Amino acid sequence: MKSRSVPIDISSDDFRKLGHKLVDDIAEFIENIHKLPVTKGELPTNLNQLVGSKTLPDKGVPVEDIIDKSTKLLFEHSLLNGHPKFLGYITSSAAPVGALADLLAASVNPNCGAQILSPIATEIEKQTIGWLAEFIGVPSNFDGVLVSGGNIANITGFLTGFINKAPAGLKKEGMSSVKGKMIVYCSRTTHTWVEKAATLTGVGSNNIRWIPTDSSNVMNNQKLKESIQSDIAQGSRPVMVVGTAGDVSTGAVDDLKGIAQICNDFGLWFHVDGAYGIPAAVIPELSPLFEGIAHADSIALDPHKWLYSPLEAGCTLVKDPLNLMRAFSSHPEYYNFGNDEIGVSKNYYEYGLQNSRGFRALKVWMALQQAGKSGYIKMIGDDIELSKYFYKLADEHKELIAVSQNLSITTLQYIPDGYDSNTQGSLDYLNELNEKLLNVLQKNGEVFLSNALVNDRYCLRGCIVNFRTTEKDIEEIIKIIVREGRKVHGNK
Ligand SMILES: Cc1ncc(COP(=O)(O)O)c(C=O)c1O
Repeated sequence: MKSRSVPIDISSDDFRKLGHKLVDDIAEFIENIHKLPVTKGELPTNLNQLVGSKTLPDKGVPVEDIIDKSTKLLFEHSLLNGHPKFLGYITSSAAPVGALADLLAASVNPNCGAQILSPIATEIEKQTIGWLAEFIGVPSNFDGVLVSGGNIANITGFLTGFINKAPAGLKKEGMSSVKGKMIVYCSRTTHTWVEKAATLTGVGSNNIRWIPTDSSNVMNNQKLKESIQSDIAQGSRPVMVVGTAGDVSTGAVDDLKGIAQICNDFGLWFHVDGAYGIPAAVIPELSPLFEGIAHADSIALDPHKWLYSPLEAGCTLVKDPLNLMRAFSSHPEYYNFGNDEIGVSKNYYEYGLQNSRGFRALKVWMALQQAGKSGYIKMIGDDIELSKYFYKLADEHKELIAVSQNLSITTLQYIPDGYDSNTQGSLDYLNELNEKLLNVLQKNGEVFLSNALVNDRYCLRGCIVNFRTTEKDIEEIIKIIVREGRKVHGNK
């Protein structure tokens, strides 16, 4: 085959032309994002028709047509989490440098599973992970691996703790070698990843102890201690406590120092789920809230949440990186990944579940440099101030109840004139009304909020991990909630 006709290649001239046009289109999209609806609330069946139900094409289509079609589909039919009024769940506006980083990363396409396959990319990932540890203020012995997001960052920490705390035979013999049930402890607000982790490891979801919280969603450490003692008395085998640094519903941070002490007293693995909240530890006034993270055995954090990285980027940090190796390392005969410099080169496949790995680090590394630590302190601090402003405006409005405010999450309820929010009958109606209101708001496209159940109250929830949101947006959001709330109440 002297020369090949390659239907998937693009000549460099065409690549330049197509690329320039695409970048121009993206720049215009970002410039005007605030004028677009957050979502059009279109139904899957309509969207399905747009995508078309043709079978897999046999013959190729010109690449410019595909790029045109894809750009149009994405710009016109997406939910825009980069919109200044997107405050739903925990998905940030993505830093534009991340888009350029992903293009660059995909163009070089290093396989970050082994140093020999990704020489410079591995060095960049090492530095990124070191910077993330420095960012949240844990000592330099913490090291880790980048993963796809919060779930996998937590599951990686969980697996590491589980394997390192289990009897030595577990890796070879499995759960049958373990005497006594292995038990895991976490607060009742812990994110759903913990159930997946318990299922995957064979711990079993019945062996998660969901510890009660106080009224502000902080785990009750006394109850935690009692639960551990009771399990030990019954011959079970406590292995791990999960502390949360910013719970998904209200942003509450557990007493991590207290949990660290309990883990130390009982010899348990201490994992911190900081997927959402831990970047706030960079703010000097808030760092005492996170005291205790330096004692964690493993920590999950998520650059694709409050570090404004485009999806996907999560990170697992561990106090002793050898624990990751003990859990994940293997040396198959088909790998020739010897270390030229022992202790310096790094094969990331030995640190987590993936072998072939993309270059996630680049977008995080570039954004950390673009904004610098001071830039992040400013952006995260501004998000928190805006969340407090949201709470204040709700508190001052006679048709709203401000329910909670932690980190950058505010919860509130719409309450029509004349309703008493504290009687049970009234609360049932308000919960129903606010659920309907949320559904209306999520479809009408002016603002995107999500929900939280706080002390039995169905709340509208705004989480600001969005560097595009301003005070004006918050003021307008309050007006939209009240306007739509009146309509939904009027239609009852
Ligand atoms: C506290 C917490 N942990 C874990 C996760 C899961 O993260 P991901 O959706 O990136 O897997 C979330 C998501 O919101 C979260 O808030």
